[in-house]
Amino acid sequence: MEKELGIMHINKDLILKYNQPGPRYTSYPPANYFHTDISVEDYKNAIIKSNNDYPQGISLYVHIPFCPVLCHFCGCNTSGSKNLDLFRSYIDAVKKEINNVADLLDHNRKVLQIHWGGGTPNSIPLDMVKEIMDLFMDRFELDAHPEIAMECSPAYLELEHIDQLAAQGFNRLSLGIQDFNNDVLRIVNRLPSKLPVEALVKRMKENGFEGVNFDLIYGLPGQTVESFRKSIEKVIEISPDRLATFSYAHVPWVKKAQSVLEKTGIPNAEEKLALMETAYALLTENGYIPIGIDHYAKPEDKLSKALVNKKLHRNFQGYCTRETTGQVYGFGSSSIAQLDNGYFQNTKSIKDYIVSINKNGWAVERGYQVNKNEKVIRTVINEVMCNLFVDFHKVGLMYGMDADEVKQIVAYNTNKLSPFLADNLLEINKEQLKINDDSSFVVRNIAMTFDPQLNIIENRYSKTI
Ligand SMILES: C[S@@+](CC[C@H](N)C(=O)[O-])C[C@H]1O[C@@H](n2cnc3c(N)ncnc32)[C@H](O)[C@@H]1O
Ligand code: SF4
Repeated sequence: MEKELGIMHINKDLILKYNQPGPRYTSYPPANYFHTDISVEDYKNAIIKSNNDYPQGISLYVHIPFCPVLCHFCGCNTSGSKNLDLFRSYIDAVKKEINNVADLLDHNRKVLQIHWGGGTPNSIPLDMVKEIMDLFMDRFELDAHPEIAMECSPAYLELEHIDQLAAQGFNRLSLGIQDFNNDVLRIVNRLPSKLPVEALVKRMKENGFEGVNFDLIYGLPGQTVESFRKSIEKVIEISPDRLATFSYAHVPWVKKAQSVLEKTGIPNAEEKLALMETAYALLTENGYIPIGIDHYAKPEDKLSKALVNKKLHRNFQGYCTRETTGQVYGFGSSSIAQLDNGYFQNTKSIKDYIVSINKNGWAVERGYQVNKNEKVIRTVINEVMCNLFVDFHKVGLMYGMDADEVKQIVAYNTNKLSPFLADNLLEINKEQLKINDDSSFVVRNIAMTFDPQLNIIENRYSKTI
């Protein structure tokens, strides 16, 4: 049954057909391929090597694993803490880690992006944020227009905080809205915004913030098409530059706290699809451009322009443009350094992180060193996930090989692609593969066909919808 919805032509049967578990490919290989056979020496060598690898820019990521109250749905690495002594020891450890990484980096490389995530970075005293920002300014050379962003929970955000963050150099804020419906927020144990979100956004604009992002989640208990429509209408009214509507990832085998939501009743795949359709239709009718999976941006936003120019990129912090993607150096517990030559993740335990940094200056625990073939696969999967387009010839040119060799490395198999061709989701023209308009819901499925290591184990991944 084909249904017309705004500019979207959505085929529900196809979406449900392709609703399978699979990696989200925030990185390739995905984080669940990481292993513990990685040493601090490997990480240090990778940092030194990254000084010479493409791309030359630097992105800095700071993880703050604290939230005053924990939401039942949360899939992030965080803890429910308001302990100022713990914050102090943690920030001191982060500063040590920053100094150790900075010692190994080439200081001619410019910082393009600084991202604060969590947890809830705006729940710690902003003086502590300033200590780290001052250290960044001291130890690194910033680009003329770096993107400096923080993920904030509006439950703890005051207008003066926005002024203070602006004074520290922040120019982008992401507000975790999740839903504007207070009944839904109550069910998931989340506090609503302390101040009207309109007032927060107004203050950001007054402070010259270039980017305002909202995060929403669909598929939470208590959400109905009607209630979610109202939330999306409110988003459109406030008009952020970008927003994400994440599909609720229910993974109680990893995040036990999520099990409590099963008692209230979690929307099933068809109900989730109806929520997704509602958001997609309203947002696209109102001028937002869908970006990759789950994201939207205004047409004048850098991400929309990058999509048109096939220059969209992705890292653990979200979508970005090729110009703003540096190699990512992560600081704090659970943070991941995302380098061209590999991934290095710190221990997830806050206590172990502090002890390890204080003892030997480093806290890396897991990771993955990426070989040349895996870089080729990563490029192909990134093109599918971000730009919905792959030119195998062009990918080959990047690695000094021809299109056939690229195809061999990604185990290109026409049989695996034929269901997508038969369902008119994909076009293949010589060495180019193009995912059709309104078919972005299958990008994960198509990316999976190019992942020769993929071994789907039941319950290991969340589903597409
Ligand atoms: C680190 S949190 C954002 C900052 C802040 N802690 C907040 O909640 O407002 C990043 C985002 O991940 C998303 N998220 C968290 N758990 C999720 C889940 N289980 N499924 C899908 N998205 C999730 C939420 O939309 C959240 O805003
Ligand atoms: S969603 Fe945000 S506020 Fe809620 S527990 Fe997770 S990190 Fe904390």
